[in-house]
Amino acid sequence: MLAKFESIRQQFEMFARDYFYQQRIPSERLQSAMAYSFLDGGKRIRAILSYLSADCFGCHTDNKHYIAFALEAMHAYSLIHDDLPAMDDDALRRGKPTCHIQYNEATAILAADALQSIAFQVLSELKEINIDQLKNILFVLATHTGAKGMVAGQQLDIDAEGNTQTIKTLETIHKLKTGKLLTASVVLPFLASSYYLDKHIEQHLIKFSECIGLAFQVKDDLLEATSDTKILGKSNMSDLKLNKSTYPSLLGIEKTKMLLYTLIKEAYLHLDRLSQFNTENLKQLAEYIIKREY
Ligand code: IPE
Ligand code: IPE
Ligand code: MG
Ligand code: MG
Repeated sequence: MLAKFESIRQQFEMFARDYFYQQRIPSERLQSAMAYSFLDGGKRIRAILSYLSADCFGCHTDNKHYIAFALEAMHAYSLIHDDLPAMDDDALRRGKPTCHIQYNEATAILAADALQSIAFQVLSELKEINIDQLKNILFVLATHTGAKGMVAGQQLDIDAEGNTQTIKTLETIHKLKTGKLLTASVVLPFLASSYYLDKHIEQHLIKFSECIGLAFQVKDDLLEATSDTKILGKSNMSDLKLNKSTYPSLLGIEKTKMLLYTLIKEAYLHLDRLSQFNTENLKQLAEYIIKREY
């Protein structure tokens, strides 16, 4: 990861830790499980994406942190549930035992529940935005992570287990289970900025994020098929074990790699339409998403 992204990641870690431990959670066990899955590890791509978007549109510094926190808390909750025996049944995440292995299923489920609600809690802290902005921000986070977004994608992903899917179906699943939260990562800071009414900007941001969101999950499939558990910090057999269709299983490795470049080129085209803003860092992060090794 580029040094400038690493430094953003560190800023996020500092803020996240401070805000989290201010909470005084009355169950030490719950607090410990939440911290285990939320504060310790992860590339923080959703956070970095949101800081970069915030920098393009000039958000209040505190709001940058609040939004990044909400996104990463949502993401951590989704990973805890994703790993549960009833879902992907994985034992390793971010290079260590998954939450339900380290604690137990009940605590893992509750830690994820609490991470989901703290994501909305932190948005109640947003400063110097009007009520329409706040309503839009809450609406986008709720819809993109809930039954019309990530959760729907997770259900479709489970429904698809054991049967070979078409590329079209797989694309829908990937866009929902992974893409929607990446869209929220780019759009929330925009909605918190003074440009929030500009539909032209919003449309291009959404299209940009949809390209990188799909690319992110396609790359995740590709890494799982071509890398190993040690580098990934999670199982490289999960899709195979559950008989899930993936881009590499349907298209082959080479065509999957080519698709990544096509998606990134399309993503750049949308940023190029926002020429009044400096989108160079967003482009570099998009490139990192398809070139990353874990
Ligand atoms: C993994 O996401 C799950 C997907 C949605 C593909 P990341 O690869 O961003 O996981 P962390 O946060 O870095 O562990
Ligand atoms: C994870 O998808 C998507 C969400 C958690 C919403 P996967 O199940 O494909 O990701 P990994 O490989 O476990 O990280
Ligand atoms: Mg899964
Ligand atoms: Mg999984």
